[in-house]
Amino acid sequence: MIVRSPILNVMMAAARKAGRGMVRDFGEVEKLQVSKKGTSDFVSSADIKAEKTLRQELSKARPGFAFLLEEGGVVTGDDKSHRWIVDPIDGTTNFIHGIPHFAVSIGLERDGEMIAGVVYEPISDSMFHAEKGAGAFLNEWRLRVSARRDLSEAVLATGIPHRGRPGQQHFVKELVAAMEQTAGIRRFGSAALDLAYVAAGRCEGYWESGLKPWDIAAGIVLVKEAGGYVSDFTGRASMLESGDVVAGNDKLHVKLLAMLREARG
Ligand code: IPD
Repeated sequence: MIVRSPILNVMMAAARKAGRGMVRDFGEVEKLQVSKKGTSDFVSSADIKAEKTLRQELSKARPGFAFLLEEGGVVTGDDKSHRWIVDPIDGTTNFIHGIPHFAVSIGLERDGEMIAGVVYEPISDSMFHAEKGAGAFLNEWRLRVSARRDLSEAVLATGIPHRGRPGQQHFVKELVAAMEQTAGIRRFGSAALDLAYVAAGRCEGYWESGLKPWDIAAGIVLVKEAGGYVSDFTGRASMLESGDVVAGNDKLHVKLLAMLREARG
């Protein structure tokens, strides 16, 4: 049996509680889809409800911690060291479209460093969790990044900048390079789960630009604790500030950075 720290238990319990409501709301979205009524308003209220649950649960356990919330923004706290970084539904577009691939993401930062992360996929009851120095897990199973060492064998996850997002021309160049050099590319639609998949060895790597801190905070801890690497496109650790992420197993991270650098020219 794994012994988890009290703080990780708090994060997991909060994610589960928010996840229960989300599964019910997702069932409603599926009905709305069929009746062709607009789903966006319903989903944004589901998002707000989930965030409220997470905020309540997390602040009940640690009253002084600050928050950075997708919906609610910055909430200051008496504790100047700790900050929760929370995305109630990462994969909102999937949720709106009735695609069952989305997650609750909770990261915990201490003095500017991510120290714990939970990415919970409520539909499949998959709890990805990690704490600095204690390893990464999916439910009870220890996670380890994949051992593949050649780009030609690698499956990569990515995010495609949609209408209104910058970086589309850069992305096309990166995509061409990845198409030419790897075994396959996946666009799943949840950055938090993309990082969890790298941690679980399902994908060898992941890259995306223009992300928000709440999309990636928890996933960063998962990848690192599973033995992988996460950086921005230059190899630096500015992911939360820049919104750029390149994650990979220990053999391929450097090769991915080189591939993307060359593609961008
Ligand atoms: C989105 C997802 C998606 C990524 C987008 C994000 P949201 O987050 O993580 O995979 O490609 O860039 O905005 O809006 O569903 O929380």
